[in-house]
Amino acid sequence: MEYQAKELFAKHDVPVTLGTVVENPDDAAEAARGLGGRVVVKAQVKTGGRGKAGGVKLAETPEEAVERARDILGMDIKGHTVHRVLIAPTADIAEEYYFSFLVDRAHRNYLCIASIEGGVEIEEIARTNPDAVAKVSIDPGTGVDDAKAAEIVAATRFPEEVAEEAKAVIKKLWDVFIKEDASLVEVNPLVRLGDGHLEALDGKVTLDENADFRHEDHAQFEDKAAADPLEAEAKEKGLNYVKLDGEVGIIGNGAGLVMSTLDVVAYAGEKHSGVKPANFLDIGGGASAQVMANGLHIILNDPQVKSVFVNVFGGITACDAVADGIVHALEMLGDEANKPLVVRLDGNNVEEGRRILNEANHPLVTMVDTMDGAADRAAELAAK
Ligand SMILES: Nc1ncnc2c1ncn2[C@@H]1O[C@H](COP(=O)(O)OP(=O)(O)OP(=O)(O)O)[C@@H](O)[C@H]1O
Ligand SMILES: [Mg+2]
Repeated sequence: MEYQAKELFAKHDVPVTLGTVVENPDDAAEAARGLGGRVVVKAQVKTGGRGKAGGVKLAETPEEAVERARDILGMDIKGHTVHRVLIAPTADIAEEYYFSFLVDRAHRNYLCIASIEGGVEIEEIARTNPDAVAKVSIDPGTGVDDAKAAEIVAATRFPEEVAEEAKAVIKKLWDVFIKEDASLVEVNPLVRLGDGHLEALDGKVTLDENADFRHEDHAQFEDKAAADPLEAEAKEKGLNYVKLDGEVGIIGNGAGLVMSTLDVVAYAGEKHSGVKPANFLDIGGGASAQVMANGLHIILNDPQVKSVFVNVFGGITACDAVADGIVHALEMLGDEANKPLVVRLDGNNVEEGRRILNEANHPLVTMVDTMDGAADRAAELAAK
């Protein structure tokens, strides 16, 4: 969120004004009084276009700040409910610029995108006047040194009077990008103030959670309230789960196998009223009964799920162990197991695995030998 991005900016000396975050309208008065003068009340949600949606409003007095906070809190902006607003002093804006660093996957590189025509219309400008938007690629080996900062300033055509300060701010934003392990740092608008100095009036930062282990302070930025409750529970249980929009629950072992399972289910679904995979869930190697039960528990609690496809290739954890795991998991879940399961087992000790499942003869479980066949069956059951 903007206020969190600004905290990271401040840590790396990017010029910002932090302001005060409040969660109920009455607190807005004191916050505004503390800042003195005219303030802006800004919705704090993880999406862009807040201004256009009416989530950024000026207030002349503390009483007005309370009114604006009342308007904005609880608002829905592109599916995000506003739980917090930032009260910040109004800046004396002379010009608004756009600035960002991001990972450029297509070129296996970093990229800077910047424009002196920033502000809430930047998407429109990028469409209608692409020449107004500079794109400068950055060699990860050298990063943004003085020469690269100068190149960015020249390509963006920053006005002469802010050129020097722009170089310094750009290098500080690069520090945020690299030192915080971000995949996106975006400032829109970066403004030139009436006094000629630059300030980041807004901020968006995407942090790479794979790097969380070296950033203890990043845990505070996680928005537990907004996270999908099933994903949050899966995370607590150490499961690699991503909720998707579909009807066929998926459990597999190994990320590659699960990815291709999503593909075959999506493909099979085309013949069965367009049902789709409901999730990604990789239970990894050692698929114990407990891990299987945890995985099934998460998937069965997704109200959208109509059938479950368990796709396991026995390797070091052989098929018989997985079959035992499924049987015990179903015992552990009891009545909670209430949706049809299609199981496809192959690989190490497959005969023994299939024998165990056949013998258990669970009413919800269907075994299908091939991956395509099982995907088709699971999609058919979900479509019923
Ligand atoms: N502190 C401030 N003082 C004065 N004007 C401000 C301030 N903060 C924002 N604004 C104005 O409101 C506009 C929108 O604010 P902001 O960029 O923070 O929200 P946004 O609409 O979410 O932006 P984006 O479209 O980049 O997601 C800015 O372009 C600026 O003109
Ligand atoms: Mg903005």
